[in-house]
Amino acid sequence: MEKSLTQLFQINSNRFSELTLENEFLLADFSKNHLESLDFLTEPQKNNLISARNNLFSGSNINHTENRSAMHFRLRRSRGEDDLDIEVQKVRSQFIEFGERVFQSQLVGYTGKTINTVVNIGIGGSDLGPKFLVDALKDYQKDVNVLFVSNVDGLAIRDTLEAIHPETTLFIVCSKTFSTQETIQNALTAKEWLISNLGEKSVSQHFVAVSTNQSLAMEFGISPSHIFGFWDWVGGRYSLWSAVGLSLVCSIGAENFRSLLEGAESADLDFQNLPLEQNLSVLLAAIDYYYFHQNGFTSKVIAAYSHRLSLFVPFVQQLVMESNGKGTDNQGQPISKSGVVWWGAPGTDAQHSFFQLIHQGKEKIHVEFIGVALQKKSPKEHQSKLLSNLLAQSRALMIGQESNSPEKYFSGNRPSTTLLLREITPRSMGYLIATFENRVFCEAVLLNINPFDQFGVELGKKLCNELLPFMLLPNSDYKLDASTHGLIQFLHKNG
Ligand code: F6P
Repeated sequence: MEKSLTQLFQINSNRFSELTLENEFLLADFSKNHLESLDFLTEPQKNNLISARNNLFSGSNINHTENRSAMHFRLRRSRGEDDLDIEVQKVRSQFIEFGERVFQSQLVGYTGKTINTVVNIGIGGSDLGPKFLVDALKDYQKDVNVLFVSNVDGLAIRDTLEAIHPETTLFIVCSKTFSTQETIQNALTAKEWLISNLGEKSVSQHFVAVSTNQSLAMEFGISPSHIFGFWDWVGGRYSLWSAVGLSLVCSIGAENFRSLLEGAESADLDFQNLPLEQNLSVLLAAIDYYYFHQNGFTSKVIAAYSHRLSLFVPFVQQLVMESNGKGTDNQGQPISKSGVVWWGAPGTDAQHSFFQLIHQGKEKIHVEFIGVALQKKSPKEHQSKLLSNLLAQSRALMIGQESNSPEKYFSGNRPSTTLLLREITPRSMGYLIATFENRVFCEAVLLNINPFDQFGVELGKKLCNELLPFMLLPNSDYKLDASTHGLIQFLHKNG
């Protein structure tokens, strides 16, 4: 980072064209980063990326701590190369056809009324992707309202149940393992509510499951013909392309869901075939690596200037931080720097909350701006103001401001990347998300870590199960640290 961003622009008048990529879906501007060209990876880094990419797409067990492959890319593949592709396509047709019936208002409930509400009960990867996309692709909805319940806080499911009608609601219990505490508790509460309204026999017509664990789903009372499966080689946060996307199909229909898969497949083909210096997934990861792991940057802000992308940050946070927030490398050795903190909010709201810190604070933060060139339903006066704000922010970060008053001084020289989508469509969303998945993989390769396990979430789950009896039985004799003990006492007295 010897030269400032403004110096880099002065030196090279072709900088914008040399440091941007453009394709059917978007323009990616890397020119406001401290790079002289897009070919900045070292030879060993390039070789590692190429061989890891081959391993990923060849289906080898790259999730070595769980002895599994990570083949979520197969879920969006249109061509059938082997038996597994054929099986994937068969299961895909089953859940897409079911979702299409809901979308077309052809599914009826126990009392013969048309299903017009879908409630997806799931958490983490069984919630965030479909929830983001149902919202992002709102303009493709017809008559079905799709809702999401994730948190085990009983108020979440209560609020939802109060707003819906049992005769016209379909519940999708979405859980890879079918044993996640939050999801099963919410599903049981929903089932109780349904039974109290329509009777025991209604369950089979109002509940479906998405899971790899057919036996637990059946034990819950869901009929086998209403269980849509997938495979253990699909990680939760990479699963929206599988039957986990059923709620999305109910919302946008089969054709649009297939377009989403096409867009995602196109991102995979780009990732596999484009030279590394023109490869969007590789460059996004490499720039993060350059700033975070070589230049002391500490976090990444995503500022998406589109109301339709409001839920992109929570989705991406799980994708990135559950994948790359690791403590050991592929050889089991502790690593000094692991994944990065990602945070953000939609622009322009973000400008009126935390952008102060990004412009003048001392944290070294890299910003990724996302904008959408065409938002047909947004009036021109809004769209031009929205995008001027986006461009003003990245420019302000770069050029800064001299001032005699210290509080009005802006250092500038703060880097950012800008992604401008042409439009929000199922295809472009597929492309964007799959590109981000592939970028997370590339960052993991550069860090030499496994992005496909998540042992870091297990300890909290285990301790929660150990504490639960103490929460339920006030006088039980428990031996805990003094803080946890004191907090439980307070809860017993006040709860
Ligand atoms: O939080 C851990 C996690 O296992 C995520 O990886 C996963 O997406 C989420 O829980 C939900 O898991 P399941 O789909 O099995 O209910």
